[in-house]
Amino acid sequence: MADVDELEELDEETRLDVDPDGTAMFLDFFGRKNSGKSHLAELYARSWPYDGLVINSTGDVDHDYTWTLPWPGGEELVDKKSNGDPIYAVNWPERPEGLSRAMWNLVPNRLHDPHYRFKIDAAIAALHEAGDKRRFPGARPRLLWVDEIGEVAKPGRVLQGFDTVLHQGRHNGDWCLFCGPRPMDIETLVLGQADWIFCFALPAVADVQRVAKTCGISEQDLAGLMGELGDHEFVRIDQGTHTVALYPPVPS
Ligand SMILES: Nc1ncnc2c1ncn2[C@@H]1O[C@H](COP(=O)(O)OP(=O)(O)OP(=O)(O)O)[C@@H](O)[C@H]1O
Ligand SMILES: [Mg+2]
Repeated sequence: MADVDELEELDEETRLDVDPDGTAMFLDFFGRKNSGKSHLAELYARSWPYDGLVINSTGDVDHDYTWTLPWPGGEELVDKKSNGDPIYAVNWPERPEGLSRAMWNLVPNRLHDPHYRFKIDAAIAALHEAGDKRRFPGARPRLLWVDEIGEVAKPGRVLQGFDTVLHQGRHNGDWCLFCGPRPMDIETLVLGQADWIFCFALPAVADVQRVAKTCGISEQDLAGLMGELGDHEFVRIDQGTHTVALYPPVPS
């Protein structure tokens, strides 16, 4: 059973205590709407020193493009699967001259593009491929932030690119931030592969149970901690050290 720590101070250093040049990490952020998932994920994304991609389904992330760049698009239909699904491909975009990093911001056209899911997957595949050191010696790590993880990780509906990142991304320098309201209804590996799982308020008992079961920690302990959460407070589960800690809100 995991140790449960009391309120730990999550200061600037602790919060961003990740080494982009070390082994790639997957961080999950769960919690009901407005609990602060995207706000915390954004702190990581803004401090990320290399290129990255935000799958910005709601358009909430940096809608004025102050620190991100509009995804240039250009996905091309290259084939069809036997079930009729289209297969798109796109190259990872070149970083504009003068920038030390490019954080691309893909806002999918959910309403009017019936193939938008396949184009998202092509962008994710491009991010993964760009990190292949056999093809691109000296490739740097990249960050993938999926702000609504349900968009790409519905059980049984995971497409090839995202599936490859889930299975092999950590060996390839694909760092990942996944945000979503409910851990219940997403592919198990999204939780299973996470190094840290940040849980903001999760009102449904089934969600807390899902997290506890997947991480091998006590449901009662986790539920007890979750019950203590105030506004924008959260619990962080470290699957490497099997520790669970409750944190105060990060600065707004
Ligand atoms: N630590 C914090 N302190 C103060 N305000 C915060 C904090 N975290 C988030 N907020 C504010 O709460 C609001 C919701 O935050 P955020 O967008 O991160 O929620 P979310 O969990 O991603 O919600 P959604 O599921 O709707 O995407 C925002 O206005 C944000 O500025
Ligand atoms: Mg959000």
